[in-house]
Amino acid sequence: MIKSRIISTPASAEQNNIYIITDLIELAQHIHEPAIHKYILKQFDDPERSFVHINQYEYLLFIVKIKAKKDEHLILEKYRTTGNQILKKLNENEATCVNIIHPEKLGDKAFALAEGLMLGAYQFNKFKSAPAPKNSLSEVTIVSDELNESDALRLNCLVQSVYDCRNLVNEPAITLGAKVLAEYCEAVSIHSGIKTEVLNLKKIEALNMGGLLAVNKGSNEPPTFTIMEWKPSNAKNLKPIILVGKGVTFDTGGMNIKTGSYMDNMKMDMAGAATMISLMDAIAETKMPLYVIALLPATDNRVGPNAIVPGDVITMFDKTTVEVLNTDAEGRLILADALAYAKKYDPMLVITAATLTGSAVRAIGSNGIAAMENNAGKYTGMLSDAGFETYERIAFLPFWDDYADMIKSKVADIKNVGPSEAGAITAGKFLQHFTDYPFIHLDIAGPAFLDKPDAYRPFGGSGIGIRLLFNFFTRLIKTL
Ligand code: BES
Ligand code: ZN
Ligand code: ZN
Repeated sequence: MIKSRIISTPASAEQNNIYIITDLIELAQHIHEPAIHKYILKQFDDPERSFVHINQYEYLLFIVKIKAKKDEHLILEKYRTTGNQILKKLNENEATCVNIIHPEKLGDKAFALAEGLMLGAYQFNKFKSAPAPKNSLSEVTIVSDELNESDALRLNCLVQSVYDCRNLVNEPAITLGAKVLAEYCEAVSIHSGIKTEVLNLKKIEALNMGGLLAVNKGSNEPPTFTIMEWKPSNAKNLKPIILVGKGVTFDTGGMNIKTGSYMDNMKMDMAGAATMISLMDAIAETKMPLYVIALLPATDNRVGPNAIVPGDVITMFDKTTVEVLNTDAEGRLILADALAYAKKYDPMLVITAATLTGSAVRAIGSNGIAAMENNAGKYTGMLSDAGFETYERIAFLPFWDDYADMIKSKVADIKNVGPSEAGAITAGKFLQHFTDYPFIHLDIAGPAFLDKPDAYRPFGGSGIGIRLLFNFFTRLIKTL
């Protein structure tokens, strides 16, 4: 992975340099050769141009000038996408290092540029016999008086976590089942100071986690339920924040089997868990003063002689009875047990991340996260702001009580599917049934896995949610 560092001493002109400018007047500070100066000016005649690239044989030079926009977050995102474009040029030229030099008060923009450059460098080549050439770039130096070592640590940790999350999501089901996922959590914990406990089948049975056990019945691999705890002595909160991630390592749909190509990418159905695991790692590596627990129920959802069938009634961890009318609505069944289990911690706030519904994809596509909240109104402003700043945007859906009526069952307490409309919301209402605390639900089914690259977000696992929630927690800490 590319690492970043931050220095305050000026970089030599005889290196690969990216100069950020806000006005063409500033060009003179960096470019002394009149012909080059003239060339750059000419290129910027195009108002849409965000950077100019000059190959000086020995080294590469980039001038970045981002046009003003009405929203600050759109400017930040433009720096990220420009960083990604510059990365491509650096790799084409087999560059190994690059410096980013910024004018006063633009430290956050230099950070965003570096972010786009580093996030765009992700490659998933492990199964290629003849791998595509590896990216050459390995170090980004930000020359800055405004940023410091802790910013570099934050950047490196976040990028590493996004990479780890993408790797988990991209890993096929044949090599990543519930056990491997739980072992991965244990491995993460060893170096980061997180306390991890993995509940095995026996323990899950003893606890009567009926949702997780029911989904697992079609599988020939037992489920796992992993608990990761980060509790630093300087935590600002007494009651924990709980992160719940959907860990369906493959979703065939079960007896309501997915048809056509709907199953193609379903190795990604553990993206919620991957996000929360990687986020925990970033929280611990940066020693965030926050008491956080992750709960990660995991299983695959398959067909088999013992698999549950429509009409089955199951009893959940909290004794709620659920009529299963569609075995493909499995995520809510395993999450429900985790949400009910979370009550014992008397949490300050619980957040779920789950590739939960096709309905969320149809509603907002891959452009953002469909969010719902109950009793957590005081956090929604901060979460939305974090969404814009990281460009992992949040769209809150209505979450009125009426939607809960749609999952009432004739034979059991509730059923696991509602009518065809408002599917993302009724899924959220199903989850809410198992909560008694401030609750935010993030349905990441749209943006968790991309069919084609989108700037610094590659094809496949995107790692969405990590930068969002890390940013949200940074804001939250200031209020505690
Ligand atoms: N894992 C899927 C949701 C999904 C769909 C994620 C597309 C990513 C992309 C989930 O388990 C599912 O199958 N949901 C069903 C629920 C329905 C049967 C009520 C859906 O949304 O179609
Ligand atoms: Zn499903
Ligand atoms: Zn699923």
